[in-house]
Amino acid sequence: MPTIDTTKHPAYSPGLEGVLAGETALCHVDEGEGGLRYRGYAVSDLAEQATFEEVAYLLLFGKLPTGKELKDFSAQLAGQSVLPGPVAAFLGVVPPAAHPMDILRTSVSLLGMTDPDASDNSHDANVRKSVRLLAHIPLIIAVAHRLANGKPRVEPQPDLGFAENLLCLLTDRRGDETARVMARVLDVSLTLYAEHEFNASTFSARVTASTMTDLHSAVTSAIGTLKGPLHGGANEAVAEMFLEIGSRDRAEQWVRDALAHKRRIMGFGHRVLKNGDSRSLIIQRQAESLSRTCGDRRWYEIATIIDRIMQQEKGLYPNLDFYTAVAYLLMGIPQQLYTPVFVCSRITGWCAHVIEQQDHNRLIRPRALYTGPMTSEYVPLDRRR
Ligand SMILES: CC(C)(COP(=O)(O)OP(=O)(O)OC[C@H]1O[C@@H](n2cnc3c(N)ncnc32)[C@H](O)[C@@H]1OP(=O)(O)O)[C@@H](O)C(=O)NCCC(=O)NCCS
Repeated sequence: MPTIDTTKHPAYSPGLEGVLAGETALCHVDEGEGGLRYRGYAVSDLAEQATFEEVAYLLLFGKLPTGKELKDFSAQLAGQSVLPGPVAAFLGVVPPAAHPMDILRTSVSLLGMTDPDASDNSHDANVRKSVRLLAHIPLIIAVAHRLANGKPRVEPQPDLGFAENLLCLLTDRRGDETARVMARVLDVSLTLYAEHEFNASTFSARVTASTMTDLHSAVTSAIGTLKGPLHGGANEAVAEMFLEIGSRDRAEQWVRDALAHKRRIMGFGHRVLKNGDSRSLIIQRQAESLSRTCGDRRWYEIATIIDRIMQQEKGLYPNLDFYTAVAYLLMGIPQQLYTPVFVCSRITGWCAHVIEQQDHNRLIRPRALYTGPMTSEYVPLDRRR
């Protein structure tokens, strides 16, 4: 919270709220009815009609792929099905209680030490590194999770799409009709999570990239930033809230008590989208339909009760993390993997921003308002008390 009179400094905006801190051609966040667009394409259209692989290609290569380009891109991803030795070795020795986001952060840092293009910041090298990260991140999450839980290894299948593979790697679900529907909902959620302008983790990646360090360093910064509960960590916290509430009968009282105790309800509110998040409506529909497919409406009903009360009492709308947690609970994805799944998608947005930053770089170095004492007199060590 600011400790100074901000009206005397019109250029100062605590938390950088409303500040235009750079330019991007990647995504447009409309605070009104217009919704979100990736390179001009409405995200509602992409979620409905495209696969996540097409969206990833759009963000990294600047255009939607042709059929052949998509096939080649999928083959490139499938060709990265083995983790580099040092990363595989690290996953074998991580402390058993480590959070998957911490494992991911350190693994990505290690990947930077094994990547053949590690220190090459040219556009093409940055794209090649981004594609390898997109392929390796799901594997890291799955291998770490399976080792920690004594589950057998599974290999990604080249004949499955990105979301189908991810679902199978994390939950062993594949093949039947329910798994097919789940994979489609996961695919939509990956599309929705892919990119969101200058959010905290992307900005952190851009600040790091603006020193012209390497792409892996920028992504490592971004993962550490996403982990926080005010940002990507919110989806895990939402699921914990649903599990704590447990049944629809308890939901209303639970949320009223929480508000009375001035608790923050995870999955509500947004720094930019004060009148609602168009992505939330899309994932809400998907979560409802998946609840019907699974014959389990419990989480969805708890969610709609909380949603109603938050809008009535606080005028706050759900953000993307809220109904996503309903969908991920139904899929059986372990809660600690929700934010890592977010990384599987947002890696595309982060990398596209790093590439954009380094292609047109100017060091990001803002100023601070000094609030400490103006003149402190130096006292030699032997006379200090
Ligand atoms: C996302 C978030 C950090 C945006 O914060 P912000 O723009 O800085 O807004 P503030 O934290 O200043 O909140 C403004 C007011 O709304 C309240 N508020 C905001 N989000 C709230 C929430 N989720 N639950 C309860 N109250 C909330 C704050 O308490 C504050 O009230 P006050 O003015 O009476 O003190 C905030 O809404 C939040 O913490 N949400 C929960 C975490 C979450 O879902 N994160 C994912 C974001 S995509």
